[in-house]
Parts: sequence; structure tokens; C-alpha cells
Amino acid sequence: MDKGLKKIQWAEKHMKVLGKIREELRKEKPLEGYKIGMALHVEAKTAVLVLTLIDAGAEVAITGCNPMSTQDDVANALRDMGIACFAKRGMTTEEYYKALERVANTKPDIVIDDGADLIFLLHSRKQGVMGASEETTTGVMRLKAMEREGVLAFPVIAVNDAYTKYLFDNRYGTGQSAVDGIIRATNMLLAGKTVVVAGYGWCGRGIAMRARGMGAKVIITEVDEIRALEALMDGFDVMPMKKAAKLGDIFVTATGNRDVIRREHMELMKDGAILANAGHFNVEVTIPDLESMSVGKKELRDYVTEYDLGNKKLYLLAEGRLVNLVAAEGHPIEVMDMSFSDQALAAKYLVENADKLENRVYRLPDELDRKVARLKLESMGVEIDKLTEEQIKYLTDWRYGT
Ligand code: ADE
Repeated sequence: MDKGLKKIQWAEKHMKVLGKIREELRKEKPLEGYKIGMALHVEAKTAVLVLTLIDAGAEVAITGCNPMSTQDDVANALRDMGIACFAKRGMTTEEYYKALERVANTKPDIVIDDGADLIFLLHSRKQGVMGASEETTTGVMRLKAMEREGVLAFPVIAVNDAYTKYLFDNRYGTGQSAVDGIIRATNMLLAGKTVVVAGYGWCGRGIAMRARGMGAKVIITEVDEIRALEALMDGFDVMPMKKAAKLGDIFVTATGNRDVIRREHMELMKDGAILANAGHFNVEVTIPDLESMSVGKKELRDYVTEYDLGNKKLYLLAEGRLVNLVAAEGHPIEVMDMSFSDQALAAKYLVENADKLENRVYRLPDELDRKVARLKLESMGVEIDKLTEEQIKYLTDWRYGT
């Protein structure tokens, strides 16, 4: 059997929540007659989402949301199943945008995006859709900016902002997969190293937690005073990047912002320092600075580029792109199980409610978020308590005393 199909089947086996939702959707067929256009990282878990949407009745066209994250064997397996998949690993920027256009050309009713590039393209073409859902923090930030300016042309569900997404995918998913990517790319030991994590959002805290778990000394850099305090009281060292730059062996950015590691920091780094990014775009490490400071550059092994700065060498992983998806396989299956269950439920919600929604960014409705959490607990064989009548009264009736 081909490798891509085997990967999809392995993921399917472990996506128990999405499996349950898929059974429901297969019976109900709520997406019958709708076209869905997707721009997501094309790998095995994403393929299971595609198959779920097809079982729900949809016609699907998909491309990647990053030129380097596609797993070609999975993309080929989708094409072998007759699914319109335009993703290919190692696309040029031009090919990447062409592929997004091919998805847009299928005239989707619903869009599922990761990073909002496809949603932007549709806006630039003045091509409306019923609604969209967005997978990631960076995409949601961009879409909320559009909403604030009043230019958002259709409703968007911020799947990222569901509890069953960011608390698990961003934290435990990125925590494990970013460390996985760094280890696969370098085959290096984390124990005893100093790992500098830029950003203490949900992704940054996951990376920090897991790097510490593997024996690294972890330093956090932050611009937000509350998050910096949290990091400090979680037991991490906190300092500006200019100080951390001198100390770090491995740097990982997870801020969603640009130029987090730039010339002034690279100048201070130790010989052999490793730079990796876990944020959506390849702008967190300022690669033009690295290029202009270097007298030479070479690929040392897959996903490791050596930059020779004359007096020292720095190593950039995965060309500064998402290290977890380029050098590894993205988040663990059981985590994407929840994120993609949220996506499947969001697609159903959009087709059923689009006429009631305004051109705004919405949270996934709480009952759907909680359904995913309940199904996840069930799939793990975990039961929880229920409130008694007395307890409900105590919590909701202000007259009801102690
Ligand atoms: N696999 C598919 N989409 C992903 C994402 N946004 N992050 C990590 N792994 C993924």
C-alpha cells in the first residue's frame, strides 16, 4: 500500500473524536451540495479532515498554507482518491499563490484556512463566500484587524479561539511538535542546553514546558508584562532578547511577530547557536540580516543551514519556517483530533447559520467546543462529576445562602 495512504490510515485510527463526528456527519450529510476550499498544512491529519468533509457531502479542493509543509505522499494519496489537491512540497512563492488561486477558482461556498492567505486572496478578488473558519492565532489576528477596519466581507469562525483548540493544540501540540522538529533536524540533546523561547503565549509556554521537561534550562523573552510575570512564576528565567542572545544554545520563536531575532541579537550569539521558528510565518528570525551578516552559507543536513558569520557559525532550521511542520509532521495526531473536530463542526455550523451571521469574527459556539471536549474525554475513557441540583442552585441563585 502506498506510504501516504498508510499515514492517513494511522492518523484515522487515532482521531477518535473526529471519527465519531464523521459518523454523525456521514448520516446527516449537512454539507451536501456545498463546495469547500481549504488551505491547510497538507499532511495525514489534514487528509482525515478532508475525508470527513467529503463524507459529510462536501466537494473539497485543497492546497497547502505553507510552501514547505506539504507531505507529498499524503498529497498524492488524496489525488489518487480523486480529490482536488494542489499542494506540493517546496513550491516557489509564485506556485504557492497559483495553487491558492486554483482553490479559489473552484468557487467554494465555505473556506477553511490556516494563516488567512486564502481568505485574503478571496477578498482581493472580491470573491464572496458564505463563511470561513480560521485555524491559527496569526490568521485570527489578521482577520480581527480586517473586522476592526470594517473590510471583512464574510463571517469567519476563529477555530483557533475555541478552548478545545488553543489550550491543547497551541500548548501541548506545539510544545511537542516544535521540540520534535528541532530534534529530528539536529539529532541533538536538549538536556543541559539553554533554550531561549521568544513569546509566552500558548505556543511558547508549550515549548518552554517541554524543553524544560527534557532537561534544558529555559529562558523566556516577552514584551507583555502579564505574560512575562506568568513565565517568571512558572519558574522560568525572563530577560530581554539582548541578554538571552548571549546565553542561548537553541532559540525558538513563537510570537506571531516579525524581527524577533535580528542583527543586534545575532551579533551577540555564541558560535554554534541554533535558530528555529514555530510561528506561522518565516519572519520571526530576520533572515535578510542573517544573509547580510554572512560570508558563506551551506546546507549541512536536511533542514539545517549553516551561516558563516566569519567569527562564528549560526544554524538556521527549516529556513526559518514552522520547524514542527517542515522538519517533523506537525502536531501529534491526538491533538489535531480536537482541532479538526472543531473545524468539521464549524463547517456544519456555517452552512446552517450563515444567513444569521454578520461579517465578523466569531468564536466557535460553546456547545460545540464542549461537545469536542466531552467526546475527547469519552475516547480516553475518562469520566467526570456532575453538579447536583443543590450545587446548581448554589451557583446560580444569589438568594440561596451557604
Ligand atoms: N497539522 C495540520 N495543521 C497543523 C497545524 N496548523 N499545526 C500543526 N500541525 C498541523
